[in-house]
Amino acid sequence: MKYYEGHEDIYKKAKKSNISSWDEFSKQSESFEEFCMKEYLETALGRIKPVSNARVLEIGCGTGPISCFLAQKGYIVDGFDVSHTAIEIARTNAKDRGLDIHYSVDDICSISKTRSDIYDIIIDGHCMHCITYDSDRHAALTNVFNLLKEGGYFVVDTMSWEDPIKCPLYEQIDGRFDEQGILWHEVKENYPYDKVKYENKYWFCSRRIMNPADLENELKQAGLLIEYIELHKDDTVEYLLDFRAICRKPMSD
Ligand SMILES: C[S@@+](CC[C@H](N)C(=O)[O-])C[C@H]1O[C@@H](n2cnc3c(N)ncnc32)[C@H](O)[C@@H]1O
Repeated sequence: MKYYEGHEDIYKKAKKSNISSWDEFSKQSESFEEFCMKEYLETALGRIKPVSNARVLEIGCGTGPISCFLAQKGYIVDGFDVSHTAIEIARTNAKDRGLDIHYSVDDICSISKTRSDIYDIIIDGHCMHCITYDSDRHAALTNVFNLLKEGGYFVVDTMSWEDPIKCPLYEQIDGRFDEQGILWHEVKENYPYDKVKYENKYWFCSRRIMNPADLENELKQAGLLIEYIELHKDDTVEYLLDFRAICRKPMSD
């Protein structure tokens, strides 16, 4: 199984403990409604001013706090995630709130090429930093580009640090960074998700931390125009910056 499918185990634990969202699980928020990206999403929507029936996709939607928030605003929302359990919980969360959201299990790195030019807005609420290798990130951003309508927006909120090798996140989750900013953890030989062996140990990559300039460049390389960038420092989290961007797929004249 691909390394980025590893969230499945955490969602299984969350389901058992009746925890409603990733942010709640990681103790960054106390309720489904108060997700970390909420304030920024309000700002981004204020800038974009989408039409009232805009079609929105959330990639890596998890259990759906962001998707529910968007559906409550009246947008037509699709969300997908590689985790089956997350999507199962997301469907329940939407149903409990009387919301009609189309959820599916899918992978942004390999989503069907027949789907294109569909969305007015695509949201990355902390999915892209789970995709660590350049080749996978390239595939993901190419798919985002193809799924957007011309003039459509990609709203990004992703982990960042000026000097990724020195990012203190590794102290929090007991791992180490390589020179590309990929965070590695030691795992057991029978660990079910993609792992590599070096120094006679098995390692698993969980996050990619890039500096803001490299993130900006990567989005431009994918063909997107950058309309807005903000580096957000949350006072309660000492070890990370949030790179927040609003990008646009160009019109073809
Ligand atoms: C940090 S969680 C955030 C979930 C959700 N956006 C939220 O705010 O609760 C990142 C999510 O991305 C999903 N993910 C990781 N790689 C993915 C991929 N290649 N395609 C789709 N989803 C992916 C994970 O399963 C996980 O649910």
